[in-house]
Amino acid sequence: MPESDLGDIGADEFREHGHAAVEWIARYLEGIEARPVLSRATPGQVRAGIPDAPPEEAESLTDILADIDRVVMDGITHWNHPGFMAYFAISGSGPGILGEMLTAAFNANGMLWKTSPAVTELEEATLDWLRQMLGLDAGLRGILMDTASMATFSAMVAARERATGGETRRRGMDGHRLRAYTSEEAHSSVIKAAISCGIGEEGIRRIRADGAFCMDADALSAAIEEDIAAGWTPLFVVATVGTTSTTSVDPVGEIVAACRPHGIWTHVDAAYAGMAAIADEYRWALEGCESVDSLVVNPHKWLFTPIDCSAFYVRDPAALQEAFSLVPEYLRTEDRDVTDYMDWGLQLGRRFRALKLWMVIRRFGRAGLAARIREHIRLAHVFAARVESDDRFELMAPAPFSTICFRYRPHGMSDEPALRDLNAAILDAVNATGTVYLSHTALRGAYVLRLAVGNLRTTKRHIEQAWVAVTESLGHLPIH
Ligand SMILES: Cc1ncc(COP(=O)(O)O)c(C=O)c1O
Repeated sequence: MPESDLGDIGADEFREHGHAAVEWIARYLEGIEARPVLSRATPGQVRAGIPDAPPEEAESLTDILADIDRVVMDGITHWNHPGFMAYFAISGSGPGILGEMLTAAFNANGMLWKTSPAVTELEEATLDWLRQMLGLDAGLRGILMDTASMATFSAMVAARERATGGETRRRGMDGHRLRAYTSEEAHSSVIKAAISCGIGEEGIRRIRADGAFCMDADALSAAIEEDIAAGWTPLFVVATVGTTSTTSVDPVGEIVAACRPHGIWTHVDAAYAGMAAIADEYRWALEGCESVDSLVVNPHKWLFTPIDCSAFYVRDPAALQEAFSLVPEYLRTEDRDVTDYMDWGLQLGRRFRALKLWMVIRRFGRAGLAARIREHIRLAHVFAARVESDDRFELMAPAPFSTICFRYRPHGMSDEPALRDLNAAILDAVNATGTVYLSHTALRGAYVLRLAVGNLRTTKRHIEQAWVAVTESLGHLPIH
């Protein structure tokens, strides 16, 4: 191979195919509604279109890009589709997509301030903007992580070190009996964090939730007292603002008050619903967070930033550093008064994640973001009103934000297994339409359907379409 062929592709080839790729993306987003939102691929279908062996010789970008349509598309569930209302609906917005392109172009690794000062300083500044938009106090400093799971894990490790005076870092658990607490409605990532950091599944106490699915702070206090009496060291609590099933909000202020006397680290998982606080009338969502130790919100959930992008705020970055910092000689620098984010967590290499968030915030503005969030809440409540007005259906939980829990329950039927089968059949029928994608959860043993609004393309028409899909699905049920 001639030496001239050993570098990257030329600028002209990049330009030509780059323009084609952008054109492809623009057409994809414009026409996305014509596609079935949930992939209809069968297991192995995508794999079957991919050769078993890698290409020996170079292929053209024309051929490679053509395979996006031929091989990939049928296996994509379109999270950017306006009918995507499953889990928490998200958007990879235009500004965010452009930000991702630039991030790849720079390919900068922000492990140290020195390895790309802009990566660190844009991240610090953007997270401070977001902090202000959320109405959080200036005592919180931010770092971007890939996911809320990683943020909660990092907070738990820092809490573990604080509680054991750095001993677990040196000697492992060594007989420590450590306790963490979260509600029975908390996300599984909290349990995974406990599994990963040595506290273990049995080291986590799931605190009872009340009738509105919010953590019972009195039950938390009682559990802490009981554990102390039994020789456990309570060290960490996760309160959730916007639980995954119903979006209930734990009483953060009361939880902080229960933890403070014992020096327990309080972490708030506001992965989805924290963003609501950008709209003034939803500021209450983050009330009580003035003195929490840490908090996570996910711009990749409800702030229109392409996945992954999770904003982790911590009051005492030194606690993270004490838990994680380990600097080999080759990474030592003489820089002072700078942030080396590699010291704040597990990962060393760090992508330029702030760029896309910075572009999203600038292109939409705080007011534009608040208006979009407000609209999603309004649309979800249009759906809730349809459910309420039809006596064959019932709402299953309060809906403070843009997620509605409901189920079909004809003639006051009370046979839970039968209701489960009916609602599971509704879900399958709705999702088979290709126009809407809903998901489900379990609430106190009941099988419940969930509709979550969070995609920028979703409008009232799509909400009506979802309701039509739900009611028409009844025609396919064995009994109704
Ligand atoms: C409340 C809550 N916390 C955490 C997570 C996990 O988020 P991530 O995928 O960013 O780890 C989710 C996911 O939906 C969630 O709903």
